[in-house]
Amino acid sequence: MQNWVLVTGADRGLGLAFVTHYLSLGCHVIATTRREQYTNELAELQRVHSTKLDIQHLDLADEQSINSFAQQLADKKRKLDLVINNAGISQIQQFGRWDSATFLQHFMVNSVAPALVAQAAIPFITAGGKLVQITSGVASLQLNIGADIGLDAYAASKAALNSISRRLSAKVAEQNIIVTLLNPGWVQTDMGGEQATMSIEDAIKLMTQSIEKLTLEQSGKFIEADGSIIPW
Ligand SMILES: NC(=O)c1ccc[n+]([C@@H]2O[C@H](COP(=O)([O-])OP(=O)(O)OC[C@H]3O[C@@H](n4cnc5c(N)ncnc54)[C@H](OP(=O)(O)O)[C@@H]3O)[C@@H](O)[C@H]2O)c1
Repeated sequence: MQNWVLVTGADRGLGLAFVTHYLSLGCHVIATTRREQYTNELAELQRVHSTKLDIQHLDLADEQSINSFAQQLADKKRKLDLVINNAGISQIQQFGRWDSATFLQHFMVNSVAPALVAQAAIPFITAGGKLVQITSGVASLQLNIGADIGLDAYAASKAALNSISRRLSAKVAEQNIIVTLLNPGWVQTDMGGEQATMSIEDAIKLMTQSIEKLTLEQSGKFIEADGSIIPW
């Protein structure tokens, strides 16, 4: 059972669904958003769960915003049982049109920012607590999924997230903190699109069941929503 949960990118998609799920279990949730004006869904959760939901501003493209958020975590000294680095961006850019700005933006939001959020949160994660890095199947070098479509900056940034997170798992093993790289699958969010094969509800059910069962032996592993291993 998770008492305190932190979720980034909480205003829509999978982040909003993670927040909704953990609030429904009675957990306290720190939900982050870069928006000044919350989505209707997040505002409604705040209205219904005012004592359990703490919404914090965090723009992962802005290091100053990450530093302010880290300072707030440090000031509050609240113990966290589960941290889900969920927020991410994905932009299609075909080979021939690659540019550094697109690569750097993906690396900042999808790789560097979750690393910095993890660094800020780790001192407050309880022994036996979990850090879940939401990654993607396209990060697998071995599977090389969708190499023909222009998701190259996205795939590379998630592969970097995997590398950082696997290295981090070794650093925090002695503290009994589990670090997992979790692929939601292809899900019907704004990012996944309507053609995606899984509903948000099914993806959240699978992922939260897998998160609940995670053990230290699985730390540093790259897994599917159902907990099965993905080759690097
Ligand atoms: N959906 C899929 O099929 C799929 C597949 C594999 C992996 N994933 C991963 O699953 C995670 C959630 O994806 P999703 O499908 O829920 O995507 P989504 O519907 O596009 O939502 C993305 C979330 O990330 C937030 N975000 C983006 N840039 C941000 C920034 N600079 N600072 C703070 N928050 C930022 C968005 O906030 P705003 O509302 O402010 O933009 C939004 O809350 C992502 O890491 C994604 O890569 C998704």
